[in-house]
Parts: sequence; structure tokens; C-alpha cells
Amino acid sequence: MCGIVGYIGNKPGSDIVVKGLEALEYRGYDSAGIAVIENGHGTVIKQVGRVAGLIEEVNQQELNASLAIGHTRWATHGAPTIANAHPQTNNARSIFVVHNGIIENFSYLRERLQAAGYNFTSQTDTEVIPNLIDFYLKQLPSFEAAFKAALQDVRGAYSIVAISTDEPDTLFAARLSSPLVIGVGEGENFLASDPAAIMEHTKKVIYLEDYDMAIITRDKVHVLNLKDEKRPEPKVELLDYDNEQAQLGEYPTFMLKEIYEAPAAIRSAMLGRALADRHLVKLGGLESVLGQLKYIDRIVIVAMGTSCYAGLVGEYLIEELAGIPVEVQLASEFNYRKEPFSRSTALLAISQSGETADTITALKKVEDYGVLRLGIVNVVGSTIARMTDAGVYCHAGQEKAVASTKAFLAQVTVLLLIALHLSDGKTKRFVPILDELDTLPAKAQKVLDQAEEIKRIAEKYKGYRDFLFIGRHLGFPAALEGAIKLKETAYVHAEGYAAGEMKHGPLAMIDKDFPTFAIANDSPLLDKTLSNIQEIRARGGPVVAIATEGNKEVKDLCDDVIFIPKTIPETSTILQVIVMQLFAYYIATSLGMDVDRPRNLAKSVTVE
Ligand code: F6R
Repeated sequence: MCGIVGYIGNKPGSDIVVKGLEALEYRGYDSAGIAVIENGHGTVIKQVGRVAGLIEEVNQQELNASLAIGHTRWATHGAPTIANAHPQTNNARSIFVVHNGIIENFSYLRERLQAAGYNFTSQTDTEVIPNLIDFYLKQLPSFEAAFKAALQDVRGAYSIVAISTDEPDTLFAARLSSPLVIGVGEGENFLASDPAAIMEHTKKVIYLEDYDMAIITRDKVHVLNLKDEKRPEPKVELLDYDNEQAQLGEYPTFMLKEIYEAPAAIRSAMLGRALADRHLVKLGGLESVLGQLKYIDRIVIVAMGTSCYAGLVGEYLIEELAGIPVEVQLASEFNYRKEPFSRSTALLAISQSGETADTITALKKVEDYGVLRLGIVNVVGSTIARMTDAGVYCHAGQEKAVASTKAFLAQVTVLLLIALHLSDGKTKRFVPILDELDTLPAKAQKVLDQAEEIKRIAEKYKGYRDFLFIGRHLGFPAALEGAIKLKETAYVHAEGYAAGEMKHGPLAMIDKDFPTFAIANDSPLLDKTLSNIQEIRARGGPVVAIATEGNKEVKDLCDDVIFIPKTIPETSTILQVIVMQLFAYYIATSLGMDVDRPRNLAKSVTVE
């Protein structure tokens, strides 16, 4: 949520900053702005809406400033308006601040500053920061001292970058629970929420840690830790990957492109890991903790949203294949529970972005418990990837659309590999699963080849305002995932339920205006799901179902059927979910929704 870019060097900073903001737009896209300092004067340009609008505005001005900061916003405090967009300034318009996160004690600070004569023009929590720095600047000898003093007063989570007309060659930055990375260049330096924004300029980076404060000029980067002033300066790291910006190519949207990348995502998640010919699963990312893994007798999976539903799939897989009890918790709930947690429990965080605030807090919560912290992460070098003891990357490639699609498939593939790995070859399912995994990318492609048919069915159902998704066993988390995809892309009310729970409440909702999407492919529990479908049909509810190729019984029973290739239960979720991704996509696009950037959402949720 919210993306930050900063530049100090010899080039026109505004161009570099707005280009970086484009790469960060996934973090928030309701407004954007920049501030530059040139000849002792600060200029702020802000726009409501996408970064493209800001770029147009910036291009119309002659800006050559070599000190610039920028921000793309996902509103927390105050509506997306010009006044609330960042950069925010002090009353004298000499200090400019961009901020990601939440200042929890902003009301108190605001009242204190108002009592001291400061006026506020926005509804943001951020506006207290430049004014607080201004307040301390009147009492302290330097901007650095005033910035530090202001940081001591703010509570919450933040990454902050400040510039001032009094310090026209310096970026001041700070981080607490919100990512910020310094890009180290030659005669120029950068700041960003994500290396993707600055990678084209430098691969040398310094990741700021919590309580770090940085003072950055063209030629020098100085980082100190406000909690531990004796801590040595952090080292410069070399990014060893290329974060090529995904291109749309022939696709109309990133969501569709990413759904179509399903076979490639499954393949890359398995590459060099699932060795069917050698009957081996090799997970290099877990090798350093193999000794510890032997003593693990419980796993708690923490994640949010779609990643949490992948975790629920993992729960079935790890319990059934490796015999280790697993519990899945929404990280936001886990964080405030007081549950017993022994050292033989491992915490497994799942996150596409690796930046989700709640999931990071969960990892922090167990920091002092001495437990093993594992991760399944897609974005290389992200906060969660760096803070876990060991983990497995998804390798799904960059996911740009806000709704997660291919990353979910990669997460489930990785979870299946972890389950096999933990089973130590003892399960009889080991070889059949590895053999099936080998065929899975081709089966995923077969599902995609039915896109036209799925589109036809989706158009038939686009007028309904409510939808129920039902499934059993591994089809249950798949149903939850089907429902969230429809909600977030088409803004249609949808709920995922275990099919067995229908009679315990949801059946009361069913009538001709309330359709059900039933996951009814071949499985040992199919007969039970068919009974649930019968009960829905008996009450006039329309039913669209997923069935296994050739299953006539499901076809006869339901209004519409989408067939998937025959597969084993352990891999079935992947094929089911591709169908539901396409189903949601076509309903959403036929309703005219912006599927890549749904309203009110952001790709990376960096505030609790
Ligand atoms: C839904 C979706 C979200 C994310 C959730 C967690 O399509 O994308 O529910 O899954 O915000 O994000 P990550 O996986 O980045 O931790």
C-alpha cells in the first residue's frame, strides 16, 4: 500500500521518480504526487487517479531538479483527493514528506501541533510529520536532529522520506515495519519501497531495517539505527535477479495474461525440485534447516486472502501426506491471539508479495520464541523472504494484476512439494503424485483451451448479484478461492462453503436468483457433493459445476458444466481454480470492471 521513490543525483529527478512510481503502482493507485527542490524552492505536483495522469502533468513542466521524491497512494486516512495525496508539506511549504504506513497517534500529535499554532489542510495522518519536523527544527540545530526527534514521537508503521529547501542535496528516510530500500549509484542514490522501481539504474542496494534512519546525498549513504546506535552500518547487497517489468503483449489485461501463465507457473514451481524420474523432491531452500525439520511436530501456516486459501490446501496435503498436524490462521488473527506455541512448532508464512503487513507481524510475533520460521514467497528479496530462516520461492514470475492467480497455483504446487518432502518418501502417494505433477502443466493448458466455453457460461450468469461456491475436502479451499476471485474482480457477493455445511444454514438462501458454483469433479466424495447439488436443485437454485471429463451424471444434474481433465485429488485444486479464475474474469469483464485494478484494493497490503 503506497509506493515511495526518491532520487538525489545529477539528472532530472522528477523523470526518474515518476518512472519508478509507475513500477510501484501495484501498491496503490488512487492518487500520486511528486515534490522537487530546485534553486532553493520546492515544487509539488499531485494528481488524483493513476500515475499516467501525474506523468502528463510533470511532462508539461520544465523540471530539472536533482532532488525529488514521489508517492503513489492507497488511501487510509482521508479520501483520494489532491489535498490528501502525498507529498504532504509543513505550513511554510519548506519540508516535503512521503509516507507509507499508518501513524497511529496522529490525532494526538495533530492536537499538540494545533495548540502550537500549526494548521492542517488534509485529512491524512502523514501531514503531522512535516509539521512535527518543522516544530523541532525551531528548537534543534539541524534538520537531521529535527527528523530524528519527530521519529521518536510517531507511533505506528511507516516508511518515510523527507526533503527540505534548507537541505537541497539530501534525502532523509526512516523505516519501521514498512519496506524501504536504498539504491546505491555512482554520483547518485535512490530510495524506493521496492527495488523494482530503481533496478534499471542500479543493482546495488541497502535494505533498511526497523528503526533505521538514513541520510542520503549524491555521494554518501549513512544509515543509523535509532534503537541500537552501535549497530554497524548495513552492507550493500547486489541484486542477483532481473525484475523485468511484465508486458501485456497480446493480452487485453494482466489478469488474463497471468491466468494464461498457469502452465508456466506450475512448471517453474516444480523445476529442479520434482524429480519424477528419480522419485525425489529436492527443495534447496530448506536444506539449511533439514536437521530442525526432523523435530517439527506441528506447523502453523499464517497468510492472508488468497495465500491463506493456498495454506488451507497445504493443510490437507501436509497432514495427509506427511502426517504432521497443520493449523492455518489468518495472520491478522494469529497476531493477537495468546495461544500455546512450543519450539517444535514451525511457523510457515505464505505470501505472494512478501510484504503483507499482517504476515510480517506474525513472523515478528514469534521472533523470540526460538521457533523455525519458514516462508513460501513469490517476490525474491522481499521482506518475508529475508526475515524467514528458510523457505521456498514460488518462481511464478511477476504478478501485476491485483487479484492473485498464477501465484496461487505456484503456492499450491510448492505446498504439495513440501508435503512430499516432509513425508520423507514414506507415503504410498509419493510416486503417483510426482508422475501426475509431470502432466499437470499440459492439463492446465487443456483447461485454458476451454476459455471460450467458460466465457459463454460466465455471460449467462453475469446478471446475478449473489453466488455460492461449494466443495468438499480439497475442493473446499478451492471454493473459498473461487468466491474471493468473483468478489474482488466483479464486485458480486460470493461466499465459499464446505458443501457439507449447506444444510446448516446457507441452503436457506437458495432460490432461483441465487446460483451455486459446485466443485464436483471425480473424487471419493463426489456422491456426497451430488446429494448437495440435488438439494439445491430441489429448491430451484441454478447450478454450474466443475466435473471431470466424461462425467455424464454431473452434466445431467446441473444447468451448466465445465469439464476438467482427469487428475488425482492432490492436484485437482489447481485445475479447479484455473476454471474459477476464468469464470470470475469473464463475469467481471462483461460487467465492464477494471480487473487489473479493482476498486479499493492494492496488490501489496503493507498496513494492518
Ligand atoms: C486476492 C489477493 C489477496 C492476497 C492477500 C495476501 O486475489 O490477491 O487476497 O492474496 O492480500 O497477499 P500476499 O500473498 O502478497 O501476502
